[in-house]
Amino acid sequence: MTTTQWSPDSWRTKPAKQLPNYKDIAALENTENQLQKLPPLVFAGEARNLQARLGDVAEGNAFLLQGGDCAESFAEFNANKIRDTFRALLQMAVVMTYSGSMPIVKLGRMAGQFAKPRSSDNETQGDITLPSYRGDIVNSLEFTSESREPNPQRMIDAYHQSSATLNLLRAFASGGYADLNRVHQWNLDFVANSPLGERYQTLSNQINNALCFMKACGITSETVPTLKQTDFYTSHEALLLPYEEALTRTDSLTDDYYDTSAHLVWIGARTHQLENAQVEFVRGIKNPIGLKCSPALSTDELLRLIDVLNPDNIPGRLTLIARMGYDHVEEKLTPLVRAVKNEGRSVVWSCDPMHGNTIKSHSGFKTRPFDNILAEVKNFFAVHKTEGTHPGGIHIEMTGQDVTECVGGAHAIGDEDLSSRYHTHCDPRLNANQALELAFLISDELRDICPRCNDREDADYRAAQ
Ligand code: PEP
Ligand code: CO
Repeated sequence: MTTTQWSPDSWRTKPAKQLPNYKDIAALENTENQLQKLPPLVFAGEARNLQARLGDVAEGNAFLLQGGDCAESFAEFNANKIRDTFRALLQMAVVMTYSGSMPIVKLGRMAGQFAKPRSSDNETQGDITLPSYRGDIVNSLEFTSESREPNPQRMIDAYHQSSATLNLLRAFASGGYADLNRVHQWNLDFVANSPLGERYQTLSNQINNALCFMKACGITSETVPTLKQTDFYTSHEALLLPYEEALTRTDSLTDDYYDTSAHLVWIGARTHQLENAQVEFVRGIKNPIGLKCSPALSTDELLRLIDVLNPDNIPGRLTLIARMGYDHVEEKLTPLVRAVKNEGRSVVWSCDPMHGNTIKSHSGFKTRPFDNILAEVKNFFAVHKTEGTHPGGIHIEMTGQDVTECVGGAHAIGDEDLSSRYHTHCDPRLNANQALELAFLISDELRDICPRCNDREDADYRAAQ
């Protein structure tokens, strides 16, 4: 177990994976100094609020919805895109709140999700080999030696884009855009226009009736202003440590260190080795943190990581994000869930049904079949039901735009459609319709986990579905 003294830069003494090789060290240091002087993007108190909400999830009383781009991009940065992803997440959350009868903790992969791990340091095209693209915060996708050279100035650009994104998200969350009745109206439009709308009709009518009932009782956005607002948090992978370190500040209220680049940061599947720099970094910050769990992670490794990442066993501190592949969930997730439960560790279990289900289509695009994504989520719920643990959330790569990146769904996107609107800078994302379908299609699983709704399990209720 790592017991040595922690500081924001103690990761520098550890073996680091997936960090770019900056050639101009003076320019890198200059950028780090500039970043250190810029204001924090989030306030430590907000990160504590998120941790408390995740604590509710860990205890089985709430559900986590985390979603957004695989990689945000500089070129596709605009207000409509931010608004549409935010809107799709809110629409999902309304459906899920109703199905599960529990609060949904909304967490964007937004306002800082720029750095990407790669399976290879270099990419070869023809007889030219260049450094791999590592996300817009590091270098540029274009295959030229100039574009692929890691450039520290990009960290400053990413900071400013994150700041503007967060500003708009905060405005949407508190300024009236997130009004529950409006979000429901968008859902009614979705159901009316979906080829599989009939499947979603019963649930959508039930939500409608619930809102009518509330209105009749005098509970409207006018009388209860919180119905016009929502809490929305941000997250990204804590990969590019020079950036994360520069935004790590001492909270004046508690004297604790917080990484103020986001409310939550997570460790990716390629960088979660115990002695690794990313693990060293996140163990010392007080933000809630995430840890991706791949099929390669053993129960022993996981328990040792939990010792380091959540030594005080604080509910909400650690979210385990399982990404097994739909056909490995039962075999690979079960022992992890069982061991964590047997050891009495408090964690949030979340399901990333994206990263274990990536395939190459016949047309050569990286894609993910919608049915496999849905199957991974359903299998995740099934494992937790068997083990008597709380399936705490989902983590998806999605966008509010009408892209064609994942095959399947009600609009039956086929292999031949992928080329029409394939815009991702990295992994294939669910589009707005597919994301919302996913929310509707897991309503039975969510209904099952509401601790107060056992009576809903009766045969009459099921028959009505
Ligand atoms: C990601 O979330 O985009 C990612 C790279 O995931 P993982 O670390 O699980 O492969
Ligand atoms: Co991804």
